[in-house]
Amino acid sequence: MAEKINTLFSEEEINARIRQIGEQISRDYEGEEVHLICVLKGGSFFMCELAKRITVPVFLDFMSVSSYGGETTSSGVVKIVKDLDAPLKGKNVIVVEDIVDTGRTLSYLLNMLKGREPKSLRLCTLLDKPERRVVDVAVDYTGFIIPDKFIVGYGLDYDQKYRNLPFIGTVEFE
Ligand code: IMP
Ligand code: MG
Repeated sequence: MAEKINTLFSEEEINARIRQIGEQISRDYEGEEVHLICVLKGGSFFMCELAKRITVPVFLDFMSVSSYGGETTSSGVVKIVKDLDAPLKGKNVIVVEDIVDTGRTLSYLLNMLKGREPKSLRLCTLLDKPERRVVDVAVDYTGFIIPDKFIVGYGLDYDQKYRNLPFIGTVEFE
């Protein structure tokens, strides 16, 4: 099946928005350190750009959970494929995600991370699709609120393709 990608947010728009979020986080955590947790693989492009825009000391860690395969609907199955390297106890943790869709992944993940006793725990997502929410998740920082469309680019994939697009686009299945 061939796909056509239509631009939703340009690279310039995305980077401008990330710059604003970075400034907001820098203000909110003034005098503190932040530990950014990237949810692989989708959150990686966003986390790198965001980390560059934060002016308080930043530490990075990565984890990987099971997500979409070739499907465009969530299976509801969440499995930790790669865990964090460092403990979170007493740290200001911000989970950095590409997108909150049904909320199943984040709800599970945040509960699990809470158990590791961070000083604070927040969620930062590049994209939010509130129409699709099945499980309630509190989002602290949002890049863009988007309609219920399948999105690729800037880290997001369709069947592992298109993550490297420098912009965000919707997928039209032809
Ligand atoms: P959840 O449905 O909120 O649990 O979303 C889980 C994961 O599904 C996200 O972290 C993304 O990796 C993936 N996902 C959800 N919506 C999209 C989309 O529109 N494009 C690409 N991946 C998506
Ligand atoms: Mg993801």
